Amino acid sequence: MSKFIIEGGHKLSGEIAVKGAKNAALKIIPAALLSNQPISISNLPKIEDIDRALEIVQDLGGQVELNADGCVINTSHLNRHELSPTLANKLRASIMFVGPLLARLGEAKFPHPGGCVIGAGKRPIDLFLEGFEAMGAKVSVRHGFYHLSAKRLQGCEYFFTTVSVTGTESLMMTAVLAAGRTVLKNCALEPEISALADYLNTQGARISGAGTPTIIIDGVESISAGNFKIIPDRIEAGTFAILAAATKSAITITHCQPAHLESLLAVFAKIGVKFEVGPDWLKILKADELKAYSIKTHEYPGFPTDLQSPYTVLMTQAEGASIIHETIYDRRLLFTDLLAQMGANIIMCDPHRVVVNGPTPLSGHKLTSPDLRAGISMVIAGLIAQGTTEIDNIYQIDRGYADIVQRLQQLGAKIERHE
Ligand code: EPZ
Repeated sequence: MSKFIIEGGHKLSGEIAVKGAKNAALKIIPAALLSNQPISISNLPKIEDIDRALEIVQDLGGQVELNADGCVINTSHLNRHELSPTLANKLRASIMFVGPLLARLGEAKFPHPGGCVIGAGKRPIDLFLEGFEAMGAKVSVRHGFYHLSAKRLQGCEYFFTTVSVTGTESLMMTAVLAAGRTVLKNCALEPEISALADYLNTQGARISGAGTPTIIIDGVESISAGNFKIIPDRIEAGTFAILAAATKSAITITHCQPAHLESLLAVFAKIGVKFEVGPDWLKILKADELKAYSIKTHEYPGFPTDLQSPYTVLMTQAEGASIIHETIYDRRLLFTDLLAQMGANIIMCDPHRVVVNGPTPLSGHKLTSPDLRAGISMVIAGLIAQGTTEIDNIYQIDRGYADIVQRLQQLGAKIERHE
């Protein structure tokens, strides 16, 4: 089992380039199944989740040709409608393949998706199933597998009772090939959704309203080849900005889209983090004293749940008390127990709220990464802490942060990967 060994307490400096957005790429890849023409994708992050998604494409009969900056996908010989449990269980986002399979082959069979442990038990997929049924699919459950079938998907009107990012993306992309008009209401507003709609529209899809609560899709018979450049990963950019503030380092984050980070930058202005913003870069200046500030995670454009754990680490170094209110997931604050073991002063009020009192010195510790975002937060804590921190189960970190050891080493971080 490989692990990270981190020696904390070192000032960092320099530049770090942001990679393509994991949560954009994990939808573009399944969306490639909607067309039987070649789809080329660039700025694709080299991370475990993407490898898993491309393995699923190949398992379904698609061809994948990797190149230096991404890949070309060709699903003209799509010949399987069943998601392999081994592959699906490694990737929560495997559910994104179900809609395109239903639209292309009229059938889809899959196990309950695996992936992160942060959602309530097995992450619910009721919105996906209801949406597919609204489009005319028959849904049955047998021996732990969901079976969906539909002669021809029909346009429908569907209201999301819970705002869901992947739910919105799944029904939006599936409706592209349904007959007639689909109106999706109470949709998520994440930038990755608008990017997906823009890409599909270049292939002949007819999607309007992405990025607003109501998305209208007029179905078409087929869509053509595509050529996508994945948008920068706003969560990576935000994570590195928090890392700079937490280690009181001057770091420039390049190849990013600051416009997607308004909620974080608004909080930075309140807590005393100095920064400069360019068209595709963000420069964090050396912060001396940080003030505590409470946050409440919220769907975009609110404070992203994926930045909650790095921000919680930052608050251990801020002057005063802050409440971290995680509204989206009910297990995403469990990692604070690990921070407490490092010396943080954190009180858990309930599964959705902790109070952080700072600043407190952190000391190195032996840790296990529970999920992707908590994992990178352990790295940030290790970089702040005095002494050595060891993090295992780093597959969880490799899932979402490409070449993270090399990139942090370039900033001067003392971090090594030990197989
Ligand atoms: C996406 O997950 C992201 N993943 C998550 O990032 C991100 O944290 C989340 O959106 C919120 O921003 C990808 O895009 C691959 P949701 P998603 O459906 O779509 C409930 C990361 O670290 N819900 O918006 O799965 C659900 O339980 C990951 O990169 C239902 O009730 O999240 C949650 O409480 C983690 N029924 C709420 O909706 C459903 O059918 C929001 O979840 C689906 C979801």
